[in-house]
Amino acid sequence: MTELEKLYEEIRNCHKCRLAESRTNAVPGEGPEDAQIMFIGEAPGFHEDRQGRPFVGAAGRFLDQLLESIGIKREEVYICNVIKCRPPGNRDPLADEIKACAPYLDRQIEIIKPRLIVTLGRFSLAKFLPKASISKVHGQLIRVGDLTCYPVFHPAAALHQPRWKSAVEEDFRRIPEILKQLDKLEIEDETKAKQLSLFGL
Ligand code: URA
Repeated sequence: MTELEKLYEEIRNCHKCRLAESRTNAVPGEGPEDAQIMFIGEAPGFHEDRQGRPFVGAAGRFLDQLLESIGIKREEVYICNVIKCRPPGNRDPLADEIKACAPYLDRQIEIIKPRLIVTLGRFSLAKFLPKASISKVHGQLIRVGDLTCYPVFHPAAALHQPRWKSAVEEDFRRIPEILKQLDKLEIEDETKAKQLSLFGL
């Protein structure tokens, strides 16, 4: 068993919070262990809970479209959520649920070592930048320790709000260029990335 498979086993057997009682399936996440990009959503919804896979409902179809629009295959990227079990009725995750689940996401980040973390929505952004407002920082590259985060609006929210839909489409369009830039920045000058985080790319 790989480290990642062991982690998935643990998540499927987890009883650290109340969501274990109401879930059909835990949704650990999916994607290759050597993925360059990690997309982190909020929590599984109805379809994810049924299938045990992340982003397979309406928001997932939109995420697939966004990826396709920038020439990236879903199978190439890693996709997971801040919390691994569906909150009843898709309510917001509670603070104690996020806290109980946090070590799982930390270990996923350690194992995958993504070059770029795309946070989908405010709960995912809050993991890295608890005080940031998504309306202000979406579309900006931000270094958090040794991680590089790129916050965007959540695809589900964007589906209901035309303004956010075009913002998320535009932010996605820059991902291929960001990946290219990251190469240069890592080789030439780490501090440039820090500067870029102030202005966006
Ligand atoms: N929304 C999320 O945040 N995650 C999913 O897996 C599905 C919908």
